[in-house]
Amino acid sequence: MTPIHAYIAGTGAYVPPRIVTNQDLIDAGIDTTDAWIRSRTGIEARRFAADGEGPSDMAVPAVRDAVESAGLQIEDIDFIIFATLSPEHAFPGSGCYLQAKLGLPGIPALDVRNQCSGFLYALGCARGLVSSGMARNVVVVGAEKHSAAMDFSTEGRAISCLFGDGAGAVVVRGSEDPRRGIRSLRLGADGRFADALAQKVWDTRNSPFIPTDADGRGIVEKDMLWARMDGKRVFRSAVETMIGSVVSTCRENEIEVAELDLLVCHQANLRINEYVRDQLGMPPEKVPSNIEKYANTTAATIPILLAELERDGRLKPGMNVALVAFGSGFTWGCAFAVW
Ligand code: UT7
Repeated sequence: MTPIHAYIAGTGAYVPPRIVTNQDLIDAGIDTTDAWIRSRTGIEARRFAADGEGPSDMAVPAVRDAVESAGLQIEDIDFIIFATLSPEHAFPGSGCYLQAKLGLPGIPALDVRNQCSGFLYALGCARGLVSSGMARNVVVVGAEKHSAAMDFSTEGRAISCLFGDGAGAVVVRGSEDPRRGIRSLRLGADGRFADALAQKVWDTRNSPFIPTDADGRGIVEKDMLWARMDGKRVFRSAVETMIGSVVSTCRENEIEVAELDLLVCHQANLRINEYVRDQLGMPPEKVPSNIEKYANTTAATIPILLAELERDGRLKPGMNVALVAFGSGFTWGCAFAVW
């Protein structure tokens, strides 16, 4: 049987229209400065979704955009993989809500919970499904609504200044043509650092999983309600792991780092990506960013950036492209594709 090569056939993105600048956060009462946020992270603004708008709502236009750019119809999609750390509810997953909103009853809907590397974990699943013949047209979506789950008091500023809302999607298809496709995809995790970036809003080790008052109402203490991050630890590990992953991926594909046309990094911090870029000896135009506009949209950063790059002509067929991410878990991933 001729091998099936999985490739990204289309990209799409949606960001909500409401722009929130660093000054808007200051005006909302957070003790921070535009200079602090810009100099430490590169972030100038982010988008916040409307009340009542969830990740699966934002995913709909992103998926439609990706399906159209792949030259397909929504009905051609036969598998949904939804990467998010901010699903609407504890269960069911956002993939099921998205499937209903797309009008595709019956097709499988899988949620992936791997935070900042969720998109690459989901892409790995899609690649396996397509190349094994289990699915033909897989939509991989990363979508997050962070704005509903951040502490906008000064106490929460180390997190609330960093994240934004949005959705990005790709369509993964199979081809017998070996010249293009996702050539390799490495994933990793180190659970020893699971608590370095976590949100433990409930704890099923205890019964009930959220403490209740005398009337049976759930009470969530502040340290449980909001995400906590050991920023310096995450920063260091992100830099080391992303550099190592890109080097190993190039070696595995028998190419030099200099032969990469684009390195598309997860957008957590411009400084992380600049450091990675400099250590790899890559010029700025090969390591694009959009964190300035959207902040960190976790599982959505890579597909949103891919869609932008493809629309403005920076991402073209035949290019050598690496995708790399690192985040909570710790988890990470690196893919290499000939576009
Ligand atoms: O995608 C998920 C993965 N996440 C990441 O990759 C994030 C990785 N980490 C980082 O990007 C950086 O560690 C941060 C940008 C989060 C923080 O930068 P930092 O240079 O590591 O700052 P810090 O946490 O050590 O804090 C330095 C100071 C502290 O004040 P003191 O204790 O020195 O008085 C913080 O309270 O900066 C203070 N601070 C702020 N000040 C103004 C923390 N957040 C803010 C803020 N505005 N928003």
